[in-house]
Amino acid sequence: MRTIKHIAVFTSGGDSPGMNAAVRAVVRAGLYHEIKVSAIYRGFEGMIENDIAVLDSRSVAHIIDKGGTKIKSARSKAFKTKEGRQKAFNNLKKHNIDALVAIGGDGTFTGAHIFYQEFKIPIIGIPGTIDNDIYGTSFTIGYDTASNNAMKAVDMIRDTATSHNRLFFVEVMGRDAGFIALRTAIACGAKAVMVPETKIQPKELLALINKGKSAKKSSSIVIVAEGNENGNATELAEAINKLDPHFDTKVTILGHIQRGGSPTTYDRILAAKLGVAAVDALLKGKEDLMLGVYDKELTFTPLEKAIKKHNYIDKDLLRLVEILSI
Ligand code: F6P
Repeated sequence: MRTIKHIAVFTSGGDSPGMNAAVRAVVRAGLYHEIKVSAIYRGFEGMIENDIAVLDSRSVAHIIDKGGTKIKSARSKAFKTKEGRQKAFNNLKKHNIDALVAIGGDGTFTGAHIFYQEFKIPIIGIPGTIDNDIYGTSFTIGYDTASNNAMKAVDMIRDTATSHNRLFFVEVMGRDAGFIALRTAIACGAKAVMVPETKIQPKELLALINKGKSAKKSSSIVIVAEGNENGNATELAEAINKLDPHFDTKVTILGHIQRGGSPTTYDRILAAKLGVAAVDALLKGKEDLMLGVYDKELTFTPLEKAIKKHNYIDKDLLRLVEILSI
């Protein structure tokens, strides 16, 4: 088994609330085991540009409650080239870094897995993305906070929607998955939810919206995931207006507001668990794996599998939206 003396941690791809808590956990767990820990700033981009610095326990003080990522993030094009990855590896060697903890989503793990295959440097992945679309875990760091952010925003929209008897289309994040949309829809009592995983046509949507008419509903809210295949919030509002012009429709796109803010208790604790477990795993000789959680159990998934497969929404929950919105 290899002896690990120096771990580097980095965040990559879209930031997510709780990434700081995860970095803090990796740094402090490393120091607890008397291992040197460095941060690689700006993810793979910083690895290529040698933006690397040693951290101590104090350098991660008071970051557990902060959204975003203090060690920055980037989506790196250069790392997709062999030349870029070679440069990155040479920089790690300069610093005597012998293991990595990668915090991010599937783009991050794709890069991490290729890097592992080429240079055999031990890597453990921690899932950090608001989308929750990563195979091998039931929760990713940031998903709970982002869906709470969306819920709070929709609660506020409800006040104004009700005052004017309006039909609101609220677009939430989720390029390929409807996790945030579904959670927000159930938590806010939305009339319908439009996600990439279902193929609801505007006509069917109109029928769902009209279901509440007899009950004299004073407002309706439709939650739309940005990756919905049959139209985003703006397109769906237009389609419904064409089918039935009597609605007073409004569109709100929540956008990046969902990704910011102080992480929830759940995300902080998940980040703490996965950060400590990542260091334990590296010390036990594990590599090329992603950590995750199912209920209280920590799980390991080969990075290759985590990239190839996807996490899917629980379609039974779609029924809840329909039943509870009459
Ligand atoms: O993957 C997280 C995510 O927030 C997606 O929900 C969204 O589509 C994307 O990132 C936005 O990326 P960017 O901030 O680079 O525009």
